[in-house]
Formats: sequence, C-alpha cells, structure tokens
Amino acid sequence: MTNIELSNRRSDAISRGVGVTTQVYAERAENAEIWDVEGRRYIDFAAGIAVVNTGHRHPKVIAAVKDQLDRFTHTCHQVVPYENYVRLAERLNNAVPGNFKKKTIFVTTGAEAVENAIKIARAATNRSAIIAFSGGFHGRTFMGMSLTGKVVPYKVGFGAMLPDVYHAPFPVELHGYSVEDSLAVLDKLFKADVDPNRVAAFIVEPVQGEGGFYEVPKAFMLKLREIADQHGILLVADEVQTGFARTGKLFAMEHYSVVADITTMAKGLGGGFPIAAVTGRADLMDSPGPGGLGGTYGGNPIGVAASNAVLDVIEEEGLSERAAALGARLKQRLQSLTDAVPQIASVRGPGFMNAVEFNIPGSKTPNAQFTNKVREKALEKGLILLTCGVYGNVIRFLAPLTIQDEIFAEALDILEYTLRECAKEA
Ligand SMILES: Cc1ncc(COP(=O)(O)O)c(C=O)c1O
Repeated sequence: MTNIELSNRRSDAISRGVGVTTQVYAERAENAEIWDVEGRRYIDFAAGIAVVNTGHRHPKVIAAVKDQLDRFTHTCHQVVPYENYVRLAERLNNAVPGNFKKKTIFVTTGAEAVENAIKIARAATNRSAIIAFSGGFHGRTFMGMSLTGKVVPYKVGFGAMLPDVYHAPFPVELHGYSVEDSLAVLDKLFKADVDPNRVAAFIVEPVQGEGGFYEVPKAFMLKLREIADQHGILLVADEVQTGFARTGKLFAMEHYSVVADITTMAKGLGGGFPIAAVTGRADLMDSPGPGGLGGTYGGNPIGVAASNAVLDVIEEEGLSERAAALGARLKQRLQSLTDAVPQIASVRGPGFMNAVEFNIPGSKTPNAQFTNKVREKALEKGLILLTCGVYGNVIRFLAPLTIQDEIFAEALDILEYTLRECAKEA
C-alpha cells in the first residue's frame, strides 16, 4: 500500500469538500512522531490540529481508555449516567477561570460546543443576536459557520447564513486594525444594525486559531467585558483551540484580568478522543429546560476517561510550563532568521501557540505562495506543518507539548534549513 494508491482511492471515494493538506497516510504514531504506510517517519507539528497536546497515545491516556473499554463503552449519559462524567464536570468547573459557581455539559465536537454555548446564551438572556469577529473560526455546523468570520472556504456555496449573527472587526495591528478602530466599528454596528440590548453574547477566541494566531489585545478584552456588562451581553470564550496548556496556561483566558461567562472546549481535552465541553456560570447553564441540551454520544465514557487522564497528565508533567519553554525556544529561533528570511513579517504567540507570518519582502502584501512552499518543503524533510490565516500566509506551530527535547531540536533544524532554502530560491 502506498500513499499515492491511497490518495487515488480517497479522491474516488470521498467528497472533495473534506480537504487534506498532506498525502501522508498514517500507519502509527507515538508522542510527536507519525509513521506513514510506506514506513517514512515524520515529526508532527500539527498534533491533529491542537488535539494531542499530551502527545499521540500518551501511556496514561491509553491506559485510562483501555480500562474503560473493559467496563463499558456506551450507555448514553441521558439514559444511564456514570461517575467519570460527573467527576470531569466537577474538575472543569474548578479549572475554568471565573470565581463563581459553574456547571458543565459534554458534547462531541468543537462546533457542537459552540452551538450549545449559543443556545445557552440565548435561553439565559432571552435575546437572539450574537456578535462574532472577522477572521474568527467556530466550526462547520450552521451556527458555527455563521459565526465564522472567513468566507473562503467555509461559507462558499452554502447559502444564507443564520440570522441575527453580526461580525465586528478583530483588532490586528499588523493589518492596520487597532483596538480603537475595532471598537469604533463595534459602536457603529450598535448604531446601524443591532440594538445592544438585543445582543445575547459576544463570542471570541482569546487567540484566533484558523484566522491566523492573533491574540486578543488585553485592552480589547477588557473593553469587551465592559461593554458586555454595560448592556447585559454575555461573553463566550471559544477555547476549543487555545485550551489545555497550549498557550502556557490551562486556558488562554487566564492571561487576561477578565473572565468569560461561558467557555467552549474540545480538541486538547480528549487527547485524541472525540469529546467537547461547555462550562459556564451555573445560573446560565441551567437556563435551558431538561432535554434541551445533550446528544446520544455527548460525554461518551471513552472520551470522558481519556479527558480525566489528560487533565492528570497536564498537571503531573507541568505541560503549561513546558508550552511556555518550548514556545520561547521556537520564537527565538525564528527571530534569529529574520535577516536571512526577509519574508518573515511577524513571529508571535503565547506559550506554544506560535506562528510565523510571511509577506512579500519589503511590503505588507501577504505571501501565501512562500508560506505553502515552506510547508511543502518541510514535509519533504519530514516535518508536518500547518498553515492558517485569512490570507493563507501564516504557519502555525502546534506540536505535542510532550515532545522529547532531541526531537524538538531536530524539528527546529529542519525548520531553519527549510526557511533558508525557500528564501534562497524565492
Ligand atoms: C476556535 C475553534 N472553535 C471551534 C472549532 C470547531 O471544532 P470542531 O472541528 O471539533 O468542530 C475549531 C476547530 O478548529 C476551533 O479552532
């Protein structure tokens, strides 16, 4: 079986709507390494898009899953509940920022967590309008897609988006949008399009993921909280990509002096098993009536067992601190290359949620072509990288936080070699 054979079978059998960025077919994976069906080994700087923060097949996660497999795999929590679901909810209620009583629900994907956060916000406020941000990504379901602030490829061909969803510009200084500019447009939105007293919630990623790894400036988050409080609007933090030690804290909102009312989580929570969660102020979480929330697989015992182990591993192995240390080394290495690689426009990101953005040298024009070349060349050298950004000119780094030092060093060498080669050829 070769990658090319599988690739041909794949394109014959599977909708092209499900895009893939590599033609590398996985055979097995361990911590930060993946081996393909041809026996070739790769260093994984994608981590299944910020999912295996605790590494592929972390022994503790696998042991917890095996133990659960030996007892029961599915009863449906809404029919016959189980203890580890309750325990995980209690742990998240304690861990999610906010000095107030919280409650939690479990669902299966990030998009579903977002859907439910909006349902809860609407039920709690009796309002329907939602404000999201340009460049934001909240999933591919209808509400997730409607909230997402990027048309191509997420909204193309799918018709009218859900009503009462508005977008305000996300402040990115690098792209000429200051905090003040964004706030001025938000104010215009309130004057021209939607009465703030009709708005149920703001939804924001503390660090935009798909949109390009831009952090919400502290002053902007503070102001959002202030505006929310002024008008009775809820603040929903979408921590699906930022959560679980990725940014150097368990949650990215811990970097701010304000807290969200509702938090969505997925990806890193399950360490490779599908599970997602919504945690929020208890009074809000209790707004929907019994039966209004849930789903057949929500909080499936396998995902819950994995998640409880993930939380243990993050704590026991100090993965938040490790994220900060790894990210600092990566950023330092990238910054040392700015002379040799004049395409580098910005190196950024908290913890190990890092990115490098490329422009045409000497200009502010995004350089998606160079970005793709770096991704492809790195792959040829055995390093899996992901791109992102509204202009497709950002490479994001999301390796497992458990990556061994020597493999991390090897990855940095491949990255430096690739960047230097691409710059020479440009
Ligand atoms: C911030 C954010 N929200 C929601 C989602 C959707 O999650 P899922 O793909 O699990 O539905 C993603 C996925 O990338 C995300 O990054």
